[in-house]
Amino acid sequence: MDTPRNTAPQPDARAEFLATVASRSQHGLRGDYSNMRDDYTVEQDYALYTPQQQDIWRRLYRRQHELLPGRACAAFASALARLDFADAIPRFDVVNEQLAVATNWQLVPVPGLLPDEVFFGHLAARRFPVTVWIRAPEEFDYIVEPDIFHDFFGHVPLLFDSRIADYLQAYGLGGLKAKRLDALKYLARLYWYTIEFGLVADPDGVRAYGAGILSSPGELRHAVESPDAQRERFDLIRVMQTRYLIDDFQKVYFVVDSFDQLFEETAPDFSLLYRALERLPELDP
Ligand code: PHE
Ligand code: FE
Repeated sequence: MDTPRNTAPQPDARAEFLATVASRSQHGLRGDYSNMRDDYTVEQDYALYTPQQQDIWRRLYRRQHELLPGRACAAFASALARLDFADAIPRFDVVNEQLAVATNWQLVPVPGLLPDEVFFGHLAARRFPVTVWIRAPEEFDYIVEPDIFHDFFGHVPLLFDSRIADYLQAYGLGGLKAKRLDALKYLARLYWYTIEFGLVADPDGVRAYGAGILSSPGELRHAVESPDAQRERFDLIRVMQTRYLIDDFQKVYFVVDSFDQLFEETAPDFSLLYRALERLPELDP
């Protein structure tokens, strides 16, 4: 697959993004966008992490790690075991050397949420944006935006899986196309119900591979074990029709047989599908 160059936004596009996000959300943007480059990347200034922040990382890691057996998918557990994330906030440059060998992906440090087309542009070039800030002690159980713990712990291990690595790049390219076709709503649901909240039928049972599940203690138990959670077989059209909840556990999760199935079922051109979806009803979460 060819990797398009990242389209650097103009400075006024940046100002507009910051103003829109800040006015739309109640809390404003959580990260510091003042020193970013045109592609929204920043430096990870490792010396700035305080001992208290390192301690928060260790406590988050320990809590989540204990919950993984029987709940996280095998690909995630084995990749995490080979990484050295337990005792300190990970360093982007160290992980990047490992990722380059494994799947030819790179992590790029960013201040926080990004405009859609910037995010897609990074994925299309096999660059995964990871937020640099970590939550404060009073945010230990709930954060308003993804922080470095969600991004690293939840997403990075599966970037070492070649199928997920290829799927994410295809997603980025598909995102740039969906934007042109005015179909981002549908494609966003696919990301949500796979990369963030996806389940996979491992040989030992249904397990989590979505980062939103894997980085949350409550949702990990809920998604895999709760009798109140609905678990449906992955169905592309159904996924794209289904709205999602952003401030509560999901009511429905979609289970793929394998990452091969996920990759293959999303490979066909979505242009016609988007048009068909406009005539189909939206489904409640
Ligand atoms: N096949 C999709 C399209 O044509 C691209 C895509 C692939 C989107 C994988 C998401 C995930 O638009
Ligand atoms: Fe995420």
